[in-house]
Amino acid sequence: MSDNSRMDAFRACVGGFAFGGDYNPEQWDRSVWDEDVALMRRAGVNLVTLGVFAWASLEPEPGRFTFDWMDEVIDLLHANGVSVDLATPTAAPPVWLTDGHPEVHPVMEDGETFGFGNRLHFDPTSPRYREHAARITTALAERYAHHPAVVMWHISNEYGPVPYTPQSAIAFRAWLRRRYGTLAALNDAWYTRFWSQVYTSWDQVNPPEIPRSWSNPTRRLDYKRFVSDALLECFVMERDIVRAHRDDVPILTNFMRFYRHADYWRWAAEEDAAALDIYPDPGHADSHVSAALNFDLMRSLRGEPWLLMEQAASGVSQWRVNNVKRPGQLRLGSYQAIAHGADSVLFFQWRAGRGGHERFHSAMLPHSGTASRTWREVEALGRELPAIAEAVGTVSHAEIAVLFDWNAWWGLTETHGLPRNDFDYPAVVTDHYRPLLQAHHAVDMVNFASDLSGYRVVVVPNAYLVDDRFVEELTRFVHGGGTLVCSFFSGVVDADNQVRQPAYPGAFRELVGCYVDEYWPAREGETFDVAFADGTTTRADFWQDSIHPETATVLASYTSGLLAGRPAVLDNAVGAGRVRYVGTRLAPEALRDLLVAAVADAGVTPLVAGAPPHVEVARRHSPDGPHAYLFLLNHSETETARVAVPADGLDLLAGAPTGGTVALGPLGVAVVRTG
Ligand code: GLA
Repeated sequence: MSDNSRMDAFRACVGGFAFGGDYNPEQWDRSVWDEDVALMRRAGVNLVTLGVFAWASLEPEPGRFTFDWMDEVIDLLHANGVSVDLATPTAAPPVWLTDGHPEVHPVMEDGETFGFGNRLHFDPTSPRYREHAARITTALAERYAHHPAVVMWHISNEYGPVPYTPQSAIAFRAWLRRRYGTLAALNDAWYTRFWSQVYTSWDQVNPPEIPRSWSNPTRRLDYKRFVSDALLECFVMERDIVRAHRDDVPILTNFMRFYRHADYWRWAAEEDAAALDIYPDPGHADSHVSAALNFDLMRSLRGEPWLLMEQAASGVSQWRVNNVKRPGQLRLGSYQAIAHGADSVLFFQWRAGRGGHERFHSAMLPHSGTASRTWREVEALGRELPAIAEAVGTVSHAEIAVLFDWNAWWGLTETHGLPRNDFDYPAVVTDHYRPLLQAHHAVDMVNFASDLSGYRVVVVPNAYLVDDRFVEELTRFVHGGGTLVCSFFSGVVDADNQVRQPAYPGAFRELVGCYVDEYWPAREGETFDVAFADGTTTRADFWQDSIHPETATVLASYTSGLLAGRPAVLDNAVGAGRVRYVGTRLAPEALRDLLVAAVADAGVTPLVAGAPPHVEVARRHSPDGPHAYLFLLNHSETETARVAVPADGLDLLAGAPTGGTVALGPLGVAVVRTG
């Protein structure tokens, strides 16, 4: 089916979409386990993630392992047809490790030691931490690698944190030596003659001590890159231990929504599948949009199906107010992940805990047990999912790509000293993504290393920092007939965070067809009137590029403010392609119209015609078979929607032909097979 044989083997073992969640039997008496497996069978659970934070229960003293309970629970699960995603427990070091070796604790950005009592209280650069993580991983792999229930390995959990310790300084220097080779190259890249920061010995180079004052922006940027790599080294170390014992099952870890400390493009390349934990806030009507973006990102990281590793059955417990999911929202969010390429619906967690910080986090099996709405919805979903089992492993195709690159993110938000220092990169990208989602387009996310040749439209939101390779790829893409939509303050600096000369927008001057002599952040509350050449008017705020067209034509100009009469939006023909450049932050409706027009002009058609914006649409198709699967998701809690679909469509959940139209109730879902 695909060239990922480990994931193919996993799908074959699980037999359809994986359904289940984190299971923490170490928190419960043995007598509860029998009820657990009986209810898992009832709900159609076929996979649980075991042992995520169980280090203290598996190794209560250094080198003394207590595997009896784990042996018993894995056998019990296996006997009941439930497969295991076995976790290494290294996200929660036991107290004997941190008390015995205090250097395992990370020192955080503010200089405070991250003490015992939470989780993730480890410095990823600590040799002692790595030694102990390797020992427990080896012991687990030796014991369970060939257990028939174990079909996947889950390394640690949601990797973090960011250390500022003496040992992280040593590791940072080694990383910098690999990157730059010589101190002279580092001094050049970091522009250290500014403020007399020239280094004359490697020992002088330290992590940026952020809270104390401003610091060198390239040093900060490199520290972000380094920390991502240092965390990844921990993953790779454990992965390789498991791999040495078992080579044919997937090994991965779980990612987080918009996590700024790890470059997931680099990470996903080291894993057998991307996997995501997602907790859209049921109290926010828009939260499904950023969920969709994160799902598309997961699919794009490897261009393959991915795993929904955790979601909440209802409310979480970590926010100020933790709203419940409305009836139907659990089902809707689960199909939404599948629509964007997930091959699993997994939850944190199976059974709600009695104690601990997350005692009020929802679970598949709530405190109130089976006499609960949530359980009924979980059970119904587990029974329904086999109806679409044929769609597992299917892929997606998009003609539109949106840039989501961690270096672009770090440059814009983590290095300070910009004309304005309040950019929110995930929000900026989401603002460019939302109109495309709501216009029912399929969208991939790309990074600086991506091949753009398969796309018709590439959207580059506020990419202040871009590397040379991406500039070349984007230039080739546009010259070859592609459409680029690029927003203000893009192309400004190189990968070393140094301003590209001789004029803004540096890397994109030829593509955009203008130069910008100054960047003008808006005053607090300031807005600008904008008029398009076709007579439509709108507003803008936040920022103005002071644009001087060279080869571009003006699509819209300011009609108020100091830049009245000057260009706000440009259109430039380049080779066989074209570029729309947006030099300000347009009102959302104006940005929407511009994006939708740009993709229509580029010949991209939506997945369905005429559906309202609150109905989300995504499509998966078999890589080599005849079928496509159209997912229709109604995010309105009050409105019903009717959507036209191909006449030959079969509604798999209803088990009936569509006759060309699908009616979706509030929060309703349909999965339509065509072809
Ligand atoms: C994360 C973690 C889980 C749990 C949930 C709570 O995803 O991996 O252990 O803490 O958050 O929402």
